[in-house]
Amino acid sequence: MNIVELKPDIYWVGAIDWDLRNFHGYLTQRGTTYNAYLIMDEKIVLVDTVKAHKFEEMVARIRRIVDPAKIDYIISNHVEMDHSGSIAKLLELAPNAKVLTSTRGEKGLARHYKGAFDTEVVESGSTLNIRKRNLTFVHIPMVHWPDSMVTYIPEDKLLLPNDAFGQHIASHERFDDEVGWSILQEEAAKYYANIVMPYGDQVKKAIGALEGLEIDMIGPSHGVILRSHIGDMLGEYAKWVDHQTEPRAVIIYDSMWGSTEAMAYKLYEGLLEGGVPVVMRNLKTNHISDIMTDVMRSRAIILGAATLNNNVMPTVGSMLTYLKGLKPKRRIGFAFGSYGWNPKVLGEMESFMDDLGRDRPIESVNINFVPDPEELDGMKEKGIELAKHII
Ligand code: FEO
Repeated sequence: MNIVELKPDIYWVGAIDWDLRNFHGYLTQRGTTYNAYLIMDEKIVLVDTVKAHKFEEMVARIRRIVDPAKIDYIISNHVEMDHSGSIAKLLELAPNAKVLTSTRGEKGLARHYKGAFDTEVVESGSTLNIRKRNLTFVHIPMVHWPDSMVTYIPEDKLLLPNDAFGQHIASHERFDDEVGWSILQEEAAKYYANIVMPYGDQVKKAIGALEGLEIDMIGPSHGVILRSHIGDMLGEYAKWVDHQTEPRAVIIYDSMWGSTEAMAYKLYEGLLEGGVPVVMRNLKTNHISDIMTDVMRSRAIILGAATLNNNVMPTVGSMLTYLKGLKPKRRIGFAFGSYGWNPKVLGEMESFMDDLGRDRPIESVNINFVPDPEELDGMKEKGIELAKHII
């Protein structure tokens, strides 16, 4: 197993999950990595571990550098099992290692592993001297769980922020400049949209807490390590935490017999005529986690649904539930749909948008059975009108 030295005596010893395609409902077409970092000093420290099924891969990498029995500390920056899942097994090989975590981390690890190992709490702002280095811990609750914490190594200007700045990329390359900014940006955006978006305020606070630290490398818990694109990534995060959008629209819809789809495409024509870039996301052919990246970028979120069994199409229901959890803010909304004998379903989509605090400047459109040419022309007009509110 190869190892990668990030800084003198600091190594990446994580694992690459080439096969992962679904991360609790999020499609990870590029796979992922679980990153663990080994710091060789007078005291030997491992920062985070890997998902349990990748334990042997991590241990093989550690053994290239040191006997795991010599590890003095395991830092658990985050309880979620993709990072804590190998702690208990590693402690069988490293019986003298102390597990350090945040206050909420202690509670979370106890609930997950039922007291299989002891933990010690490190307060936010506290440091651990390991001779040449002073590891500093900063709690960053809700980035991504209440227990989340970063480990900062001032002597190496290295930040290990766990889920923050992560991307689901399985790659032989370990650094940002080796995979290229366009792939990195795309995967970091999808990661933020699907994992971190509901906690934008907390992420902003966390970034504020890290201000003033000298950082020339960021080792997140997933994907590649940042050394050349730190400024670019911070610039993206600054936009995302503020819910900044671009003057563009995403039309998310599902249709039963083609009426809702015909309406969607007329709306699309109108928006384009009004000068707004639009992406069409048919829920039969697009996954909700892919659509979230469009949602994050777009000023207007447009939802269309046919009525099925007195409800929205199940695919639209799934999208609504997903949006409710991820809470994109400061967007314009518009709803449309078609029905047979129950026109009330559209109202449910409107209520849903209102609950999310959407601004709905244009009245929704509900069409019985099949739209006639005048009604389709009306949809195009709606698109042109809506475009004025987006630009
Ligand atoms: Fe990668 Fe919130 O765990």
